[in-house]
Order: sequence, then structure tokens, then C-alpha cells
Amino acid sequence: MAVRDILVVPNPVLKQVSKPVERVDDSIRALMDDMLETMYAAPGIGLAAIQIGVPLRVIVMDLAGQDEEPQPRYFVNPEILEDVDELQPWEEGCLSVPDYYEEVERPRRVKIRYLDYHGKEVVEWAEGLYGVCIQHEMDHLNGVLFIDHLSRLKRQRAIRKVQKALREKETEKV
Ligand code: NI
Repeated sequence: MAVRDILVVPNPVLKQVSKPVERVDDSIRALMDDMLETMYAAPGIGLAAIQIGVPLRVIVMDLAGQDEEPQPRYFVNPEILEDVDELQPWEEGCLSVPDYYEEVERPRRVKIRYLDYHGKEVVEWAEGLYGVCIQHEMDHLNGVLFIDHLSRLKRQRAIRKVQKALREKETEKV
């Protein structure tokens, strides 16, 4: 396993639409292992493959609390089969938009279908933090970031904040 670099806004790779995985084989499992390690190192609770520059429809997630055992979850080719009309606001963040948090409204519950780590099909409803996180990560597969759900002004402010932090980091290195 290896920790990979996480791409941040406004990297154009993040706007790419990811391609479906043909088969969940050892190369895909190796990708998921790297993604999980990268996510834990960040640290974060969800990561889409495109965030490490791999345009495949793969997501990893772990929603366990700090004092709980790790609960890694893997999603290949996830789809939303059904959602509810009721929207729910939730404060979101993203490893590709570091240190920026803003409320986004999404359906309160979604029914999803995906393949797990072993390529087995799973169909289930997701709600609460799980529901928010899977919708956020699935957006990444379509080149959509949570800041794309915000006003243009807020989106530009978020990108400027990330760029400023990066510049400051570069200066520190010198
Ligand atoms: Ni994200």
C-alpha cells in the first residue's frame, strides 16, 4: 500500500468524468488499498479515485469515530437507484478543498447499488452521514465538487483560500 498525492482545486483533473470499472480484480483492490491508506493519512472519511488522479468509478470510505475500530467501506461503480424528495442541509468538507467547510443540501436518503471489495453487488439505503458522504463522493465520479453546489462567489472564495494556503506552504519550504 502507498500514500498517494491528493489533487486539490482548481486542478482540472478533478473535473473529469470517471469511467466504470470492468472487473473488480487485484489491480482494483490494490488501488482501493492505496486510496484507503491515503484517506487515513490525510485524514478524511471518504475519497474518490479521481482525487488521486485515477479516473475510475471507485470510492473508499470510513465513517468510524475516533475511538472506534476502523470500518473501511469500498464502492465500485456505485449508482443511485432512488432518492427521496426531502432535502437536508449538512456541513461538508473535501480533501480536494482543504480547510473549507460549507453547508450543502442533498436528498435525505438515497438507495444505492455498488460492487464491494470482492466484486459482490450490494443494494442498500444510505442516510445520515453515510448518505451525505456517498452522494458527495459519487459527485466526484462525475467531476462535481461540493463547492459546485454553492454560489459562484462562495466557490471562488473557497478556491482562492486553497490557493493562498498552498502558496504559503511553498514559501515555508523556501
Ligand atoms: Ni470530496
